[in-house]
Amino acid sequence: MKADLVIKLGGSAITQKDTPYAPKLDVIDRIAEEFAHSWKGVRVLLVHGGGSFGHRAAMKYIDGSGRLKDPRGIAETRHAMHRLTSLLAESFLGKGVPFFAVDPSACFFEESDMEPRLGYSLKPVELALSAGLLPSLGGDVVLSSQGHGRILSGDTIARILALASSAGLLAFGTDVDGYLEDGKPLRRIDRGKLKEIIASTKARANDVTGGMAGKLGEVGEYLSSGGNRALIFNATRPGAIASLLRGEEVEGTYID
Ligand SMILES: Nc1ncnc2c1ncn2[C@@H]1O[C@H](COP(=O)(O)OP(=O)(O)OP(=O)(O)O)[C@@H](O)[C@H]1O
Ligand SMILES: [Mg+2]
Repeated sequence: MKADLVIKLGGSAITQKDTPYAPKLDVIDRIAEEFAHSWKGVRVLLVHGGGSFGHRAAMKYIDGSGRLKDPRGIAETRHAMHRLTSLLAESFLGKGVPFFAVDPSACFFEESDMEPRLGYSLKPVELALSAGLLPSLGGDVVLSSQGHGRILSGDTIARILALASSAGLLAFGTDVDGYLEDGKPLRRIDRGKLKEIIASTKARANDVTGGMAGKLGEVGEYLSSGGNRALIFNATRPGAIASLLRGEEVEGTYID
């Protein structure tokens, strides 16, 4: 599978993370509009985060080791993500973009022998791309051979998709202008500096996947596994997604 670009629409960009189940429909519609104008001919894999949908549901049920043991909690968390995915689908389809939701819980699973290990088959994503669709995967609950559920973060899915598709860029859209230091976005982070920066980054409330620190951890894993280049940008800024689709540089923090 080959993609030009993996874009993750962060839950911070497309929802109000501090208000339960509050989508930012204006942002979603604008992003869909930019796809409608600039997406044709670009091989893009789309991922979205949980925002105030997935994180909210998961937090009620998740235990200290990151497991969801209550079947009801597993099912409710998944449904919360489906609700957000549906809003995206309606918006994109309404603008004529063939948004095609691929359920991560049907492609990813946790195998546990000694250590839990994430297994997956990306064939459905590859086939969707070949069929001229815009494949989209949201953070989700995946099932384990040990009989529990575990949260699979959109950031992790984005990292796996970018590596599997040899994408030129792995772009994380958030509600901030990049990685901020003293309130200002850094233009670039050298991969050699990542560990130090992660150690100084605080996790955020209402986020079960580690917030910005977790995201930078995924970037580190991506680059050390042969990934090309990552970006943290503000997906709520008009025109940012369109620029990315046109292969242009955008404001934000590039990490390579
Ligand atoms: N140094 C930093 N620079 C930028 N943002 C930071 C920093 N430290 C913490 N943050 C927080 O990280 C947030 C982005 O991470 P977060 O996980 O909340 O968003 P997301 O990944 O878009 O959402 P989701 O996990 O729902 O997809 C920003 O909104 C900001 O509040
Ligand atoms: Mg996050």
